[in-house]
Amino acid sequence: MDRPASGITAREDVLVRFSGVAKTYDGRTLVISDLDLDVRTGEFLTLLGPSGSGKTTTLMMLAGFEVPTRGTISVAGRDITRVPPHKRGIGMVFQNYALFPHMTVAENLAFPLSVRGIGREERERHIARALDMVRLEDLGGRMPVQLSGGQQQRVALARALIFNPQLVLMDEPLGALDRQLREHMQIEIKGLHERLGLTFVYVTHDQGEALTMSDRIAVFSDGRVHQIAPPRDIYDAPATPFVARFIGDNNRITGRVETVEGELAVVATKSGERFVCTALTGIGPGQEVMLSIRPEAVTLLQPGAGVPAAEARIAAIVYHGDHFRLHLTTRGGETIAAKAPVREAQGLSIGDDVLIGWRPEDARVLATA
Ligand SMILES: Nc1ncnc2c1ncn2[C@@H]1O[C@H](COP(=O)(O)OP(=O)(O)OP(=O)(O)O)[C@@H](O)[C@H]1O
Ligand SMILES: [Mg+2]
Repeated sequence: MDRPASGITAREDVLVRFSGVAKTYDGRTLVISDLDLDVRTGEFLTLLGPSGSGKTTTLMMLAGFEVPTRGTISVAGRDITRVPPHKRGIGMVFQNYALFPHMTVAENLAFPLSVRGIGREERERHIARALDMVRLEDLGGRMPVQLSGGQQQRVALARALIFNPQLVLMDEPLGALDRQLREHMQIEIKGLHERLGLTFVYVTHDQGEALTMSDRIAVFSDGRVHQIAPPRDIYDAPATPFVARFIGDNNRITGRVETVEGELAVVATKSGERFVCTALTGIGPGQEVMLSIRPEAVTLLQPGAGVPAAEARIAAIVYHGDHFRLHLTTRGGETIAAKAPVREAQGLSIGDDVLIGWRPEDARVLATA
């Protein structure tokens, strides 16, 4: 894999660096505020966040179609903040970007090449290579309407790869596809990333997609990155209440820290119920916090087995095929969802009193103030 020359960037493995980047479209509201973000050479980085959080804007600034209001963007140590898009060596698949319907697949791919005055022979070489990369060798003569949704998406991908870029940007490329095709294309794109060793920056608001495809995920909200980390860390150790709410399914209990001993904290709710959990550094007694715990980490305890985290009553039992989801109300009135294996949940009824437990490391405390 080609690496940027060392000594240019502070860290050799950084390909893209956003430094203090801010963006406003109307001169008043910042849709990106003070963004510092590194993309490592060869990684699959996903920008994940709700609608309007600034994902496309970030990608457009990297591609060169939008100019930052403040700050700089560098690629391989070179400041490209004001370099025009076609001189950046970046391939891009746009959000909802369609193929030209009146051109064949090969003509669609040839278009950006002829615009740049590349001769016929070289064009054909590029096209064959790009079609080969997305496994559409035999379909160059087809019209877009003669292709399935997934094949069309692969052509869009081939077009992004046609100039042999070191960096590929993709903005919700699978948004229009049905679930099955989407999953198939996720595997294709991931395979392409692994085969070609390119750096990918991928935008989605689908957390499942982000969790399965990425080396790292940057979670965006309101133009800020809340956390950038590998999928497992994002899922198991959300760094902010927003990430805990946004990723997966989380029980959330608000309260105040009573005591902290080492990594363990005791959190008391308004009603006086107490929970033992793990505190990140910087959490101290008296602090207002949110306790977050995944439903799959909440277990039913047999009386006498282990130390219960709470006593609760079953408010609802919902069948999900491979598990039951129990809706529980604790003595203090907190609502907690638990995922129970089918075997364990058999014989339970609404109104039953149960003991629930969790490992303190699965219950994490996040500062809310
Ligand atoms: N060309 C524009 N002119 C003015 N405001 C814009 C423009 N493009 C985006 N915005 C605003 O900037 C903010 C961020 O938009 P952006 O398109 O980056 O969000 P996004 O995270 O890609 O959302 P989505 O998931 O819906 O695609 C939004 O509030 C949006 O309305
Ligand atoms: Mg967008």
